[in-house]
Formats: sequence, C-alpha cells, structure tokens
Amino acid sequence: MTSRFAPVHLVIGTALVLALAGCGAPLSENWSGYKHTVVPPEDGGSAPVGSANLQPSQEPGSGTAPARVAPDCSAVKCVALTFDDGPGIYTPELLKILDDYDAKATFFLIGENVAKHPQTVKDEVAAGHEIGNHTWSHKDLTKMSVSAAQRDLKKTDDAIEKAIGEKPTLVRPPFGAIPPSLKKALAVPIALWNVDTLDWKTRDTKKTINNAEQTTPGSIVLMHDIHESTIKAVPSILKDLKAQDYHFVTVTELIGHPNPGIGYGMGQYPGKK
Ligand code: NI
Repeated sequence: MTSRFAPVHLVIGTALVLALAGCGAPLSENWSGYKHTVVPPEDGGSAPVGSANLQPSQEPGSGTAPARVAPDCSAVKCVALTFDDGPGIYTPELLKILDDYDAKATFFLIGENVAKHPQTVKDEVAAGHEIGNHTWSHKDLTKMSVSAAQRDLKKTDDAIEKAIGEKPTLVRPPFGAIPPSLKKALAVPIALWNVDTLDWKTRDTKKTINNAEQTTPGSIVLMHDIHESTIKAVPSILKDLKAQDYHFVTVTELIGHPNPGIGYGMGQYPGKK
C-alpha cells in the first residue's frame, strides 16, 4: 500500500520554490494533501504493537544511550517531535530543553551538517534521541537518478556512522518526496509527518507554538532545529503537551515496529488496534 502517501507526487511541481526557500518542508498552500489529512501508518496490518503496558526501548547496538523503558503508545498518548536539517548552532540548547522535560525526539540530519557538528550528533544519541538520514545537502531525491539518490543517502549514512558509530534508523526525504523505486529499495522505514508547524516559513515562535496544537495522539510533528524561533517555541510546546498527558517518544517508539521501505505519517495511539 505504498501508494497511499499520495501527496508525494504533488511536491514535484513546487520543488523549485521549495529549493529557493531552502527549507525542509513543503509549502502548505501547494501541498493540500496532507495538512488537513491524517496519513495513516502503512504498517501492512501485520506488525504487532504493544501488548504490554511497557516495552523496551529499541536502541540496537547503542553503547552510549542510557537504557530506558519507552511508554506503550497503544495505551497512552504519545507524540514524536522531529527536528530536521541540523545539527546546527542552536541544537545544544534544544537538547537541554528536551532533557528538562525528559522528552525524547528524532533528529533528521543533513550530512554536511553532521560533518560540521559531530559532537552534537554524539550528544543527541547520548541523550537517547533517534537519528534519521535527511540526505547530504537537502536535494530533492525525485530530481536525481535512483543510483545518485542512493549514493547521497549512503554518504550521509557514512557521515553519521563516523560520528556516532552506528547508522541512522530512518530516512526522511527532503520535502517528503521520494521516488517509489527508491522507497522500496530502502533498508529502513521512511518517516513523514502529519503536523507541520511551518516553523521554517514563519520563523515565528508564537505561530510555531500555535501550529503544534494540531497534535493528536500518534502525531509526528515537523520542526527544524536550525531556527532560533523554533528553539524558543519548544518549551511552550512541551509544557502544553505534557499538561495534556502526552509522552514524548522517538518515531520508532511511536510506530512500534516500522517496516523498511514504508512511509509513516503518524504512529500508534490508544484505541487504534
Ligand atoms: Ni528538511
């Protein structure tokens, strides 16, 4: 059912504008497919999710992240906050804020930035956050050959592995756009989103906070840790969601058992099964 993420093809026409905007998210006015539509996870209906109240966190091969028990998102309210296009100069401050709320997040890294800030990537992993591949330099994967796209993703994987000793567990294609043939060939799941804060566009802390209020249980929320206005919004977002009993988990924890080559716009939530 990989064609269920229909908006992918819509982005192609807006790619030039997006490239000029230099951001990690589609323009919502040209991207009507997802903003008002919850994209269900394409889990094929076979993946078991949380049969117990608690399940171990998935940190394969990690020697640095502290062990923790992740909440069962099929039983309690969870949200996956995601931060794209870093790491950058504001990321260390964001890590402190997340730690203050015992919040785990997922970072979709640009290879060029990993090479510039390897210690920050180490700090993300040490704090228990998940790492995803967001390509080497944020080029549109639908505008290059599949082999070129695979080389780009591998170069980024290698940079991340060099920094933290392990490969990223997810891919998030720039603009959410990925050719179907490349999607099927991936060895990891594809993390999309269902709440776009538009932080990259507004660069406005209050608007970012307001847009995050679209969060529902199971949401994957898109933000960018390269903008100071976003970092300033995160404490309020965490406070507001915590007051609504949300647990802040990684994308893999939210989905439960994501499958390679499948795109996920949101994860599991109470009552879904
Ligand atoms: Ni991006």
